[in-house]
Amino acid sequence: MKITKAEFLKSGTNKSHMLDGNKPEFLFCGRSNVGKSSFINGLCNRKNLARTSSKPGKTITLNMFEINEKLIFVDVPGYGYAIRSKAQIEQFGRMIEEYIKTRQELKLAFLLVDIRHAPTDDDKTMFEFLKYYGIKTVIIATKYDKITRNQLPKQIKLIKETLELTDEILIPVSSETRFNLDKVEEIFDSYVK
Ligand code: GTP
Ligand code: MG
Repeated sequence: MKITKAEFLKSGTNKSHMLDGNKPEFLFCGRSNVGKSSFINGLCNRKNLARTSSKPGKTITLNMFEINEKLIFVDVPGYGYAIRSKAQIEQFGRMIEEYIKTRQELKLAFLLVDIRHAPTDDDKTMFEFLKYYGIKTVIIATKYDKITRNQLPKQIKLIKETLELTDEILIPVSSETRFNLDKVEEIFDSYVK
């Protein structure tokens, strides 16, 4: 599905802030600075829809976008940002858990990891969490433009082994060069009527 219309709807931090409608929702999660907002912007062909920043940890709410009037993208604040306080980390945990546990509309999560590095303990925890609640998850390896083609097999292996992937889909992408964004677009096809 090509995205031709994308609109920011609202931000929220708890259940009461979620949307009333019943459009399928897609969650974008991953560490701060991994490229979630850039990925959403890339998919939507927009420069500044989901705000990107070189300063990690800016996003502290669940940010909801309506896509082609049919789907909802939910941008999740990055975890694993050291400068966050303990209270903020706990608040983040509660927020994301409540959302994942209760949100019927949530159809699929994208877990973004940096293609250059092994997934961290935070990534592993997030992935376990999604699996525990039975959320279908696609792994997105970001910033493909930062490695060479020769490095790809090794980095894929590292991600697969660290997260102990079995049959999950893993897609290397670059929001900068748009590498494989078309592959991600195809995923949405089965969710639109
Ligand atoms: P938080 O909102 O803090 O959780 O971060 P985020 O995951 O939304 O990351 P964001 O999209 O803001 O990107 C972080 C930095 O990585 C920015 O400087 C982006 O320009 C850069 N970046 C994102 N995607 C890519 C990519 O595909 N290639 C390259 N080279 N840089 C990227
Ligand atoms: Mg962001």
